Amino acid sequence: MTERTGPVPRPGILDIAPYVGGEAKVAGVARPIRLASNESALGPSSKAVAAYRALAAEIHRYPDGSAAELRAAIGRRHGLDPERIVCGAGSDELITLLLRAYAGAGDEVLYSRHGFLMYAIGAQAVGATPIAAPERDLHTDVDALLARVTQRTRIVLIANPNNPTGTYLGIDALARLHSGLPPAVLLAIDAAYAEFVDRNDYEPGARLVDRADNVVMLRTFSKIYGLAGLRLGWAYCPPAIVDVLNRVRGPFNISAPAIAAGVAAVEDEEAFLRARAHNARWLPWLSERLQALGLPVTASVCNFVLPRFPDDPRRNAEAAFEFLRTRGILTRKMAAYGLPQHLRITIGTGEEMEAVVAALGEFMAVQ
Ligand SMILES: Cc1ncc(COP(=O)(O)O)c(C=O)c1O
Repeated sequence: MTERTGPVPRPGILDIAPYVGGEAKVAGVARPIRLASNESALGPSSKAVAAYRALAAEIHRYPDGSAAELRAAIGRRHGLDPERIVCGAGSDELITLLLRAYAGAGDEVLYSRHGFLMYAIGAQAVGATPIAAPERDLHTDVDALLARVTQRTRIVLIANPNNPTGTYLGIDALARLHSGLPPAVLLAIDAAYAEFVDRNDYEPGARLVDRADNVVMLRTFSKIYGLAGLRLGWAYCPPAIVDVLNRVRGPFNISAPAIAAGVAAVEDEEAFLRARAHNARWLPWLSERLQALGLPVTASVCNFVLPRFPDDPRRNAEAAFEFLRTRGILTRKMAAYGLPQHLRITIGTGEEMEAVVAALGEFMAVQ
């Protein structure tokens, strides 16, 4: 037997199943249709691309570590105090930082059963125990979450609306979740898809942050703003949490081109409205066509849908995934989310939506 001599990570690290992103390539297909990662259908704002390019000759300079210009632009856009905003390299980084700062060995991190995968992974990475509360019909269940709060609970992480189910909690349900939590438990509301939601009873979380010391709202530039490749997100927090995040984050965690592109993107109202209108048109279109093919779809308020496939091995989600891939169309398998009968399909361009519906029509017609 050979003896292990190399460095050994902390207990639990090797139990983590690494996050696997959506596939981006298909052998033999030059430009696959990429509907696997909830990226923007229309791409970034041309103003954001120009701002990014304009910084190319300056990349020998460190960025402004406080990302002041970007925080000011976000503050103007959303009517929020820039002093209460912290930027991160994607909201992923902010999730990780919150977990690192507020949870550790022996603590519990609570999330909803079909919540974003990074919550459980991030909790395990800091030695905490992820606790999943069951859902009701692919909806976050406030009572189930509250029933699982213990003395050891440190953070409750909720995606609202949720990826991959596409469902959301209304203002009242979220307020009820918050009021059922002890004041020392942090409620992190991850509103990565907030910009797509068009419902009167929805609020991304800022109002709750304004009246509580234990709530944080997380946002991203990866979805409606189309800057996923740049890695840019932000958190709106009570002052004490801003202070904590600024202590644990890297001093230059956002690159200068990301700051510049983020400012341009958040100020490009026209591109924003175009992206929103595109989603508002194609989300119901795709949902209806999938239902018409006999694939039940949970009502989504995001830029993706989650059709359920039959159990018949010729028509199940796995077979559909492979069939679509042979047509150069990439979707996301959902077994890692505990949803093996489903595929998640991102809203792409109109042509891409027509192609995926045509291919699924063929797939469902196979004898
Ligand atoms: C709910 C949710 N939160 C956070 C993220 C991560 O976003 P970012 O690219 O800002 O790290 C995603 C990405 O898919 C997401 O779906």
